[in-house]
Amino acid sequence: MKLGILVSALALCAGVASAAAEDVTIGMIEPMTGPSASTGKQAKAGAELYIALHGATVAGKTIKLEIKDDTGAADVTKRLAQELVANDHAAALIGFGLTPLALAAAPIATEAKVPEIVTSAATAVITEKSPFIVRTSFTLPQASAPMAEWAVKNGIKKVVTIVTDYGPGLDAEKWFGETFKKAGGEIVQAIRVPLKNPDFAPFIQRVADDKPDAVFVFVPSGFGAIFMKQFAERGLAEAGIKLIGTGDVTDDDQLADIGDPALGAVTAHHYSAAHDSPENKEFVAAFEKANGFRPNFMAVGAYDGMALVYHALEATKGATDGPALLAAMKGAKWTSPRGPVEIDPDTRDIVQNVYIRKVEKKDGQLFNVEFATVPMVKDPFKASKK
Ligand code: DHB
Repeated sequence: MKLGILVSALALCAGVASAAAEDVTIGMIEPMTGPSASTGKQAKAGAELYIALHGATVAGKTIKLEIKDDTGAADVTKRLAQELVANDHAAALIGFGLTPLALAAAPIATEAKVPEIVTSAATAVITEKSPFIVRTSFTLPQASAPMAEWAVKNGIKKVVTIVTDYGPGLDAEKWFGETFKKAGGEIVQAIRVPLKNPDFAPFIQRVADDKPDAVFVFVPSGFGAIFMKQFAERGLAEAGIKLIGTGDVTDDDQLADIGDPALGAVTAHHYSAAHDSPENKEFVAAFEKANGFRPNFMAVGAYDGMALVYHALEATKGATDGPALLAAMKGAKWTSPRGPVEIDPDTRDIVQNVYIRKVEKKDGQLFNVEFATVPMVKDPFKASKK
């Protein structure tokens, strides 16, 4: 009798062990609460949609997406990354809603030799902080330099820059500013606004006094509505001051909230829900059906992050060894809802089209309508160091 129990207990353990061996845990860490919760909401929905559309099984393994809320606090990100790697044996970490959060997980990825797929954060330097970091979002230099080139070619000569005062904002200020000045433009003032509890009104007043042709702005996803409302209230548009920026400020998640004050804003970015391709039409329709809201660039970053996980697992025939997965991710190429993309094998950053877009109304709804394409842009920050 005792032996019988022992045998069945062993059989049960063996059963559990083999079932567990078939699962591959992917640990997603995003701010699901707090000021950047919209990033977490979009990223979760994007990753889940990829699995729903492609099936949870890849190379004989079942994908288990473990989603954790770091609330936007870097110490929490680091602890969660540690737990996902040590306790859940996550084969990859994915997400990272803000630059400090992506940086906090970098030492864990390096020590554990587990790929960290950055689907949201966008400061250029992030991928240099661990050889295990791969990025499917974008970099601020990648979007800001093409914006500056467009501005100069379109008669904008004097600009005030306004950026959120941390990594991506500083990248945007530098790469817009330097590219613009090199092409003959003038930066009359460079304003930095704190990330926490931003009130743009006093800064916007200072812009009005300078009478520039345009204001170039970077704020992180989820902060565009506050900025745009204050820009409109101060009457800068009526004063003939144009609004240009990276696409974070006219984020698809916030356009409806911003409303008509967004009309006419010209931005450079890698993704618009209005991108005209069969892949994007299918993506947007499925996303809206599953979630009841429009995808933004954070959703497509996470969707492509999962595409990269699937690609890597197929290449390794289901093996979850970190260095093998990483090797398979380098040089990966596919067609994203945003257009053609490629992981630069040297920098592990994404190479992609940057589109110049204008906010317009289509069937009563606001969209970032793409009207020009800068093809297959590599992160200029890394290119500048070669
Ligand atoms: C970052 C966050 C954002 O929401 C965004 O739109 C761009 C960059 C970041 O912290 O890296």
